Amino acid sequence: MRYTRASVPDDQLYLASTAVVMSEVIKGLACVALLHFSGPLHQRTWQRLTSLLHRELISNWRETAKLAVPATLYLIQNNLQYVAATNLDAATFQVTYQLKILTTAFFSVVILKRTLVRLKWIALGLLTFGIALVVLPRDASAAAMAYLTGNYQDNLEEATIDTSNLGNQSNAKGFFAVLMACILSGLAGVYFEKILKAPATKPMPEMVNTLDHGEPDDEEGGIGLRDIHGRREDVMQQTQQQNQLWIRNLQMSFFSILLGLVFVVMLQDGATIVQKGFFVNYNSLTWLVIAIQAFGGLVVALVVKYADNILKGFATSISIILSSLVSVWLFNFTLSGTFIFGTALVIYATYLYGL
Ligand code: C5P
Repeated sequence: MRYTRASVPDDQLYLASTAVVMSEVIKGLACVALLHFSGPLHQRTWQRLTSLLHRELISNWRETAKLAVPATLYLIQNNLQYVAATNLDAATFQVTYQLKILTTAFFSVVILKRTLVRLKWIALGLLTFGIALVVLPRDASAAAMAYLTGNYQDNLEEATIDTSNLGNQSNAKGFFAVLMACILSGLAGVYFEKILKAPATKPMPEMVNTLDHGEPDDEEGGIGLRDIHGRREDVMQQTQQQNQLWIRNLQMSFFSILLGLVFVVMLQDGATIVQKGFFVNYNSLTWLVIAIQAFGGLVVALVVKYADNILKGFATSISIILSSLVSVWLFNFTLSGTFIFGTALVIYATYLYGL
């Protein structure tokens, strides 16, 4: 993403707002495809799919409406991130944004009534501090190391953060934006988790039909038949749970596309789109970035469903470290002292949280 944004002149840039909407469109289409192919072969008809979509998105509008909340929160969060990144230097932004690990834990306790013992809070604190050190860029990292080792004055000249091109940044505005983004990240994630993990309402009719198809009702077949029946029910439950996940994502994409088109695309880039088109400056790499974003969103949903938002914090922290290590090999990225110290803290925090 960085490559497609930073490597081209301003007049050849694609519109980020349309890219965000397109990744939601792809996510939504992927969910539709997953729902379609989850059914047995003989039921994969256009009719079944349209009736399923009609029921889940329109007839079941009360359930659909619930997803407007996380979709709106994520939309504001994504825009606040942009405000924060514009008004704060990259280091401050990256480091303060890690506070979302703690806000997520806070909302998990308050909304999901999860209990976190003291050891887990300590692990979360260490994780936040560790990953903040890991994402610290080299210049800020050198300043931090000099400060920690007491050589601050001696190293001041080479270690200070470059403040020569701060432009018209507003630190207060940037801090406010990043803090709000952290709160919204935690709230949106936990709210989505609450909806996902709520007990399923009614079984989907076509699933019940599948189970009943050719299955005798009585138990004359003895224990063997009961076993098969039980196993079938397990499979049905699993498929249904998985389908609920794709339906939830589809409902959320629906609102994200709607809100994104109205508030971001039209209000922010309306004039450019009328003049140059929706897909101005798109190329194959743009589509690749959009596809990765869409795929990432689906993976986040799976993580939230089968693990939780707090564990997602650990997973993303470790992924930051792994991708930095790959950067050593691919881009000659050099590891700083704070990176290694931060990595050790993240690994220790992960171990501590798992105790
Ligand atoms: O920074 P944070 O971890 O909160 O970002 C999570 C990202 O995952 C958001 O950009 C959100 O749009 C995306 N997401 C998604 N589908 C979900 C849940 C989150 O695309 N079901």
